[in-house]
Amino acid sequence: MCGIVAVIGSREAAPLLLEGLRQLEYRGYDSAGLATIQEVEKDGLGLLSCKRAQGKLNNLSSLVEKFGSPGHLGIGHTRWATHGKPEERNAHPQRDISGEIAVVQNGIIENHRFLRKELEAEGVSFSSETDTEVIPHLIGRELKRMQSDGGVISGSLLLTAVQNVTKELTGAYALAVVWARTPEALVVARRQAPLLIGLGEGEFLCASDTPALAGFTRTILPMEDGEVALLTPLGIELYNAEGKRQQRSPSLLTGIDHVVDKRNFRHFMLKEIHEQPDTAELWVARHLPAGLPPTSPVALPFDESFYQGIEQIQILACGTSRHAGMVGAYLLEQFAGIPTSVFYASEFRYSAPPLAPNTLTIGVTQSGETADTLAALAMEFDRRKANGDPAFASRQLGITNRVESSLARQVPNILDIGAGIEVGVAATKTFLGQLLAFYALALDFAARKKSRSSDEIISLSNELRLVPNYLRSLIHRHDQLSEQLAHRFTDTQDVIFLGRGINYPIALEGALKLKEISYIHAEGYPAGEMKHGPIALIDPRVPVISIAMPGMVFEKVLSNAQEAKARDAQLIGVAPEGPATDIFDALLPLPEVSELISPLLSVVPMQLLSYHIAAHRGLDIDQPRNLAKSVTVE
Ligand code: M6R
Repeated sequence: MCGIVAVIGSREAAPLLLEGLRQLEYRGYDSAGLATIQEVEKDGLGLLSCKRAQGKLNNLSSLVEKFGSPGHLGIGHTRWATHGKPEERNAHPQRDISGEIAVVQNGIIENHRFLRKELEAEGVSFSSETDTEVIPHLIGRELKRMQSDGGVISGSLLLTAVQNVTKELTGAYALAVVWARTPEALVVARRQAPLLIGLGEGEFLCASDTPALAGFTRTILPMEDGEVALLTPLGIELYNAEGKRQQRSPSLLTGIDHVVDKRNFRHFMLKEIHEQPDTAELWVARHLPAGLPPTSPVALPFDESFYQGIEQIQILACGTSRHAGMVGAYLLEQFAGIPTSVFYASEFRYSAPPLAPNTLTIGVTQSGETADTLAALAMEFDRRKANGDPAFASRQLGITNRVESSLARQVPNILDIGAGIEVGVAATKTFLGQLLAFYALALDFAARKKSRSSDEIISLSNELRLVPNYLRSLIHRHDQLSEQLAHRFTDTQDVIFLGRGINYPIALEGALKLKEISYIHAEGYPAGEMKHGPIALIDPRVPVISIAMPGMVFEKVLSNAQEAKARDAQLIGVAPEGPATDIFDALLPLPEVSELISPLLSVVPMQLLSYHIAAHRGLDIDQPRNLAKSVTVE
């Protein structure tokens, strides 16, 4: 989703901004822009240069190359359209009528219509359809008012203007502001949208995500909710929402947080699918080292108090993370014996179930920045606190791939899936990492609650240790098989994915992957539901992809697949080879593993088939239309 980069220092700002924006490209965007300020008189008015372009970042860099954008202070933005089409006039920076104030914003200003009307009534004419444009106009109006009250042009004046204006805004935002009259001041602010300050050598930076900073500095100061900061060449002044000066020590970025290259793969998504054996291997090494006793079968970073009294679990997540949560719920209920519910975070926010005591709430978000998931967790925290739940402060757990994210600062317990940065918009290796996190929790809870025998715990642990190797051989083979099969989907418009039990969420995930990157309509169903309606969709043009793993529902799934075949569906099986599975017109074979660990493998053909279908169609796989990697607005 929208990305912000800002810099003030001794180097030319434009190349740094472009480099920072490039690191944020993976979040998804449809236009980009930057503004720099060149000091033309010592301690006087600067020149604001603003360049914006629809489409890819290369369009913006060509503009900058051609016309230049001088100055050591600047702000940059990649925009994912919310208010107004992805056109140049709606790209950021947005400016006030004087053209001296420029603003980039990530979020949604919910009262923008009201503010716009108010400003229009005062004679302000708007040049875009964005919610953001009210901000530079409001800052311009506030600066004028303060100057007529005797305020002297300075960075501090700009800071105060932004502090005053942000009080008028409702909604979630992160923003960066420059003013041509203060070529040595950059003001940034955030409320419920991420923003981090980077302390570089001879420069300060600001960005909405760490990859944009990691190439310049590893010393970061994440801004807290409601904070506003003034950045000058001399230092940082940080204020909380009440205007009180804040002092905090910066922290160090760990790990590789900048976007790495594609190596020899055609797309990041393919590379990330191929990285899954490493994700699993690292997880085994961290959490399932050899020699752990069945009474304590996994190494997890929580102390005893975390587990005390948990009687039920609720999982909040969106998209692919919710599918991982559904597999997690299956494991926590069926293996560990803990009643568990899964919610769309966006629904939970406004219709949470009645409070039940002794409940652990798990938020699953690979980015750690999904607005709905963060808000649902915050809402749950607040209502438990208000209700006097004695454990309200400790009963939340976040499962994420980004330990420096807002999630990690918001919840008290974090399980890091450690998959390394994922660039492709379609989540793959992070889904696997989330699944593995739930296997770890299920093993842990089963051992603590004694809901499984030692033998069962040892057997699941041992099977999980084999997963990296299974994945290694599976990915290699399925890459080729899926590529061959993809040719059959040239004219396909609809696909149905079937699964049951622990593989039902994988059918949902298969359908989501296909929709996201190939733009083919796809639906995932629990196989037994077919005959209650969806079977009406079946005809020879609709492929049915059925996940059938030996276990409790194997025969049932095969019967459901037969029902589709009887109606001339092209049947593709994700199942072990053998006489029982020769009903399929094509087979994407899996090794015969236990049903319980099968989702870790059955998801691979889903990912690779979607990938090759989209590649065959020549689509933009890593940045599919309309999608964003980090969904930071509601
Ligand atoms: O960062 P999150 O895990 O919270 O993201 C949630 C969804 O936006 C995400 O899983 C989305 O569905 C992916 N594009 C799926 O591939």
